[in-house]
Amino acid sequence: MNERDIFSKAINFRHACKMFNEDKKISDKDMRYILEAGRLSPSSFGMEGWKFLVITNQNLKKELRPFCWNQPQITNCSHLVIILGAINPLKLESGIPQKRFQRRDLPDEKIEQYIGVYKNYIEAIGDDKDIFAWSSKQTYIAAANMMDAAAVLEIDSCPIEGFEKKKIDELLNLNIKEFQTSLILPFGYRANPQPKKIRRNFDEVVEFIK
Ligand SMILES: Cc1cc2nc3c(=O)[nH]c(=O)nc-3n(C[C@H](O)[C@H](O)[C@H](O)COP(=O)(O)O)c2cc1C
Repeated sequence: MNERDIFSKAINFRHACKMFNEDKKISDKDMRYILEAGRLSPSSFGMEGWKFLVITNQNLKKELRPFCWNQPQITNCSHLVIILGAINPLKLESGIPQKRFQRRDLPDEKIEQYIGVYKNYIEAIGDDKDIFAWSSKQTYIAAANMMDAAAVLEIDSCPIEGFEKKKIDELLNLNIKEFQTSLILPFGYRANPQPKKIRRNFDEVVEFIK
């Protein structure tokens, strides 16, 4: 299979899996492959303002489920990934953005220049809620990469936004000044055949401007 076929097969294989086979678990090696796709995802200014909590503890999954609209994927998946978006780690006061720039192989004055641009940018974003909105939208890129990486391995997933954020943050004992729940992403193996893919037509979605 060539590269095009591998990717096309994966994106057609991926669907929002509603029911996972509880008896089939993802291997550590495959899970690492999926998480690596998240880790290597692009982020604004290279800040990587995210964290991935990987839950396999069945009791914890059961506790989380009622706050996720009681969706069965929360408990019948193999691995439940909670994607967190950062707040304080993205602020200059944390010292973390400076470290993110310093790891680049650049002269000091260039790094200072980057920090200056970043300072203006982050200050213009707004309050903690706005910073979370900024990091959260970036976590969706990592989520998409993880779902597609999983699909390459014929592993299923389902992005879940249907949850009570405050309750999940509390249950996970998060320091919400640092990180908050952005998206919930169960992985596992489908229990049922994939439904037909429904999408708008290409020409409806894409407009070429010449
Ligand atoms: C941001 C986001 C949130 C979603 N939340 C849920 C959810 O809470 N529960 C669920 O079953 N599906 C959820 N979905 C899946 C969508 O319903 C699904 O992707 C869409 O209907 C297209 O179907 P497909 O992904 O199977 O092709 C979500 C998808 C996205 C992108």
